Amino acid sequence: MAGFLALVRYPLLKVLVTFSRLLIKLLTSQPSPRPDYLLQVPSRDKHRTIKVHVYKPNVEVAGSSKPAPVLINLYGSGLAIPLHGIDDDFCRFVTKATGYVVLDVNYCLAPEYPFPAALNDVEDTIQYVLNHPNEYQASQVSVSGFSSGGTLALAASALLPHGTFQSLIAFYPATNLSQDPSLRKAPAPGGKERSSFWTRIFRESYIREMDPRDPRISPAFADTSNFPANMLFVTGELDASAVEAEDLAERAKSEGHATGKEVIIRRMKGCGHAFDKKLTGEILVSARNEAYALAVNILNKGQGTST
Ligand SMILES: *[C@@H]1O[C@H](CO)[C@@H](O)[C@H](O)[C@H]1NC(C)=O
Repeated sequence: MAGFLALVRYPLLKVLVTFSRLLIKLLTSQPSPRPDYLLQVPSRDKHRTIKVHVYKPNVEVAGSSKPAPVLINLYGSGLAIPLHGIDDDFCRFVTKATGYVVLDVNYCLAPEYPFPAALNDVEDTIQYVLNHPNEYQASQVSVSGFSSGGTLALAASALLPHGTFQSLIAFYPATNLSQDPSLRKAPAPGGKERSSFWTRIFRESYIREMDPRDPRISPAFADTSNFPANMLFVTGELDASAVEAEDLAERAKSEGHATGKEVIIRRMKGCGHAFDKKLTGEILVSARNEAYALAVNILNKGQGTST
């Protein structure tokens, strides 16, 4: 029986995820991003490349063509749903307000590409940036991520040597994938519950037979010493992933205190998961504006500090 289950597991996950992708495509409006250009970053898998949307700051404002600081952005996908481009507004806002080049990465998805493929894509993109010092300022690389993209950003920050990233920005990340999603509780009542069935399917697709407590999968278990000097965690009080994100943020704060790391933790009132993508009403719009402004602040502050 166990052997049979192992055999049908991949096709079953593939069917379920394909169905879910189709539903999302039918029921929601698809992202229509407008980056300045596309980049194909070489992957360590020789048969494919990583598509990256590039958002360039206004050259007139930047004043010259010297290497630019870089923000690597990772969108939220549940690690399975193709929504690359959904952070278009954020990427454009950041590049305009900071002079950073924003690289919005289309990392690969499960179940076709399980762990560690997505994380490898993030690392390969960073390697690409570091290999192009005439274009990108190697000492000024930061990373941001939304939801599961935040999980990847945190995992990469723990994995790569300290100093790789100046700043880390995580919007409502999941940090502990060993936790049963149905047992999580939002800090405040009244939010719309996310389906724990689909969360489980997506996680299973990504994690497969790995241990979910692997810190590269669940940054809640990571050593925080490689985390960058400046960190921003944004959570929503109606979001079931807020508590685990804040737990890790608090730990990063206390463990980073001695070395002067700054960790900002902002829990948004009246906001659920992915609140910045659902601009229904004044509360969400002003929370989005505040969250993006905090991100810009931390990037402008990180610029100039070199560790
Ligand atoms: C992750 O979640 C599991 C299950 O709820 C829990 O036992 C564990 O303590 C959590 N780990 C961390 C580091 O928060």
